[in-house]
Amino acid sequence: MTTPNTALELRDVRKHYDTPGGSIDALAGMTLTAEQHKIHAFLGPNGAGKSTSLEMTVGLRTPDSGTVRTLGLDPRTDRKAISRRVAIQPQEAKVFEYLRVGELMELWSSFYDHPYPSVDVLESLELTKFIKRQVTKLSGGTLQRLNVALAMVSDPELLILDEPSAGLDPRARKKLWSVLGSWRDRGTTIVLSTHSMEEATALADSVFIVDRGRCVSSGTPEELISSFAGGPTVVFHLSGDLPRDAGAQLTSLGELTVNPDRSAALNTARTDEALALLSRTAGCHDLSVRQPTLGDAYLAATGTELTATTTPEGD
Ligand SMILES: Nc1ncnc2c1ncn2[C@@H]1O[C@H](COP(=O)(O)OP(=O)(O)OP(=O)(O)O)[C@@H](O)[C@H]1O
Ligand SMILES: [Mg+2]
Repeated sequence: MTTPNTALELRDVRKHYDTPGGSIDALAGMTLTAEQHKIHAFLGPNGAGKSTSLEMTVGLRTPDSGTVRTLGLDPRTDRKAISRRVAIQPQEAKVFEYLRVGELMELWSSFYDHPYPSVDVLESLELTKFIKRQVTKLSGGTLQRLNVALAMVSDPELLILDEPSAGLDPRARKKLWSVLGSWRDRGTTIVLSTHSMEEATALADSVFIVDRGRCVSSGTPEELISSFAGGPTVVFHLSGDLPRDAGAQLTSLGELTVNPDRSAALNTARTDEALALLSRTAGCHDLSVRQPTLGDAYLAATGTELTATTTPEGD
């Protein structure tokens, strides 16, 4: 339900594409609500429908059916009003490549009545040293940061970033996270897409797990982990068979799994008791406690693993 605090709402949104290979259902009933003044992450694999959803919120794609509201506006009829209040960094942006970075930023900010100072945006994303460089001569990671900077310079109420950290090296990603965190703290709503559990866990106030054109689960990373990932696990190795009495005691503490390679896992909230028991049981070694992660929640919600792919790249 849309309230004054709703930044985005998608309700039962469907979208298909006709391709030479047949019809593709890119969105198959996408439903989600994103509140203002938070960072929201769309987390899902290639082809899940993230870009289709994000571009739809600013009118770059149209739904076959369902409802899309962006800051309470309909992107099909209010595109102009949305363009003044919302900025998007599309997944593949190619803009005015013959200009220099500084010229492009100045041109971009001239489109808006109240831009954010472009020198500050460039500085925060460590782009100042590239001001005189032509856009075509930037490395992939620097170009990606420039595309994020171009979206930020309009100082939007809602900033939509489609895989903003793709191609960034680990240090540049962390810098970007800190910049986005400070923009959220000054009131900007940020909606981004990512394949990275680490990014969603570190950055997002709320996560939409997107799979095959639907939002299959949503919540804070902590909520998703506690409702889906099933608590901590004590992992250990066995050098022989587990003594029967120890097996019975472990099973009374939680769910025990022993694999053919003799690695074992006990899913239990009573980790101290389990560790004490295992440490006095002959043949049990390499004990450790593994806390549940967003990756576990993702696996439980979708039935598949999502492996993050990043391309480390420096200047
Ligand atoms: N313009 C298009 N024409 C035909 N099919 C499309 C088009 N855009 C997207 N698709 C298809 O729709 C589905 C969803 O694509 P979308 O780009 O929204 O996914 P995504 O979650 O952003 O993926 P990625 O992580 O690879 O960016 C995919 O099967 C994709 O091949
Ligand atoms: Mg995409």
